[in-house]
Amino acid sequence: MAFCSLDGQDKTARVPNFPTAAGLATGRVIRHSRTMHTPKKRLFVKTYGCQMNVYDSGRMRDLLAPLGFAPTDIAEDADLIILNTCHIREKATEKIYSELGQMKLLKDRRAALGLETTLAVAGCVAQAEGAEIRARQPAVDLVFGPQALHKLPEMVAQAARSQRLVLETDFAAIDKFDVLESAPRAPDGVSAFLSVQEGCDKFCTFCVVPYTRGAEYSRPVAQIVAEAQHLAEHGVREIVLLGQNVNAYAGAAPDGGAKCSLADLLSRLADIKGIARLRYTTSHPIEMNPDLIALHGQSQTLMPFLHLPVQSGSDRVLKAMNRRHTIADYVAIIENIRKARPDIAIATDFIVGFPGETAADFEASLALIDLIGFSQAFSFKFSARPGTPAAELPDQIPEGEKDRRLAVLQDKLFAAQLGFNRAQIGATLPVLMTGPGRHAGQTIGRSPFLQSVHVDEIHAPGTILPLRIVSASQNSLRGETIAHLAGSPA
Ligand code: SAH
Ligand code: SF4
Ligand code: F3S
Repeated sequence: MAFCSLDGQDKTARVPNFPTAAGLATGRVIRHSRTMHTPKKRLFVKTYGCQMNVYDSGRMRDLLAPLGFAPTDIAEDADLIILNTCHIREKATEKIYSELGQMKLLKDRRAALGLETTLAVAGCVAQAEGAEIRARQPAVDLVFGPQALHKLPEMVAQAARSQRLVLETDFAAIDKFDVLESAPRAPDGVSAFLSVQEGCDKFCTFCVVPYTRGAEYSRPVAQIVAEAQHLAEHGVREIVLLGQNVNAYAGAAPDGGAKCSLADLLSRLADIKGIARLRYTTSHPIEMNPDLIALHGQSQTLMPFLHLPVQSGSDRVLKAMNRRHTIADYVAIIENIRKARPDIAIATDFIVGFPGETAADFEASLALIDLIGFSQAFSFKFSARPGTPAAELPDQIPEGEKDRRLAVLQDKLFAAQLGFNRAQIGATLPVLMTGPGRHAGQTIGRSPFLQSVHVDEIHAPGTILPLRIVSASQNSLRGETIAHLAGSPA
């Protein structure tokens, strides 16, 4: 496939711009003077599921800020409550209905005080279940899918005017990102998510995402560069590019030429002043292009970390899952990427108890853990999702057996993770400080390999500091500054 060329591109070309810090401040003053006599409205957003939902929730806050909605962490104080939901497994969906039951009681308590509350369900459950949600919980006023969130200001106004359910489950990713482009983004830290690709055309037989997020869509390069520049101007040092299949990214080039690949996009973003680190997630093995692999060996800004879900170590199961690659393909990708970047950390996802998974298939997953040596992994029991082909397959594995397999798999994965973390002891790693640690006087940061690192000193968020790793647990590392070590008694 021909991808866009970086040569000849005017890197200073003006792209649709976000307001600068000064512009934002002015905007706030004007808005404040207009709304001075209106009490502030409060917005409570609760996010479930993947990073793309985290990104979307942030954008909902951005869209509602000009309407006078200030975020709150206390649901009881909120005039507008949004649950941004996940449909990936049955448990995730059922959790939403019990949460909605709580929100109904909260709404009743507020009504008794004469306060109105709008209750909204967003995200993948909203997309999948639509009006059915209101049938199960009549207190819900508004239901909208992931591709309709840009209509939030009108939907909220409509819900306030009408007793009827406001329902928006259209797929129009292009509209969504075009509208979001003009909503100033307020980052809340030195690391920020940035959605560049949405949707999925892969149709793994177990998965609901193609139905809840729609077809694969890539945002144009200029739009992404503008958002990244805005983030950099507001103190962001690390950007994590998001997509359900982020490495399938093929976005329109600014010059109208051939489509840009993810590697091209990463190279452009690496040139933005202030951006020190780039990551991307989640990738599909069949989209792991040679240019992306090569970039891991060339770019210092691209972090040595790859999340590449494998799901199973058995070719038979991979075929039944419609993953469209074999274990030999997966191993070859890992070998190639390790040739380009020998120290790269590899993370993955596993599903245990897929219908028909035999003891031998499961053993093959365990063997793959030993072969690859994953630095981190998410692992799940297969959940039969209505409407997906795998839910209809014979030989569903009993729940107890799935529990047993998950426990065995996780023991092995946790040991691998601890081993990976312990291997860093004695090394000096550049750590991006992200904020205060759990204890007073402590700062927490992130290693290039996506490990949490604690240091018993105060450092400003955004600083990248070389830390000597002195201890490691399964979930984090402890580091000390080099100067501190030099000054400490032997
Ligand atoms: N697009 C990503 C994953 C999105 S869903 C990819 O292809 O890798 C995140 C993870 O949830 C998947 O990797 C898979 O491990 C898990 N998952 C998805 N559907 C599931 C199901 N029905 N049961 C159990 N786990 C599931
Ligand atoms: Fe789901 Fe497969 Fe698409 Fe990932 S690639 S989102 S697992 S259908
Ligand atoms: Fe869940 Fe939707 Fe993400 S189903 S994992 S929130 S794409």
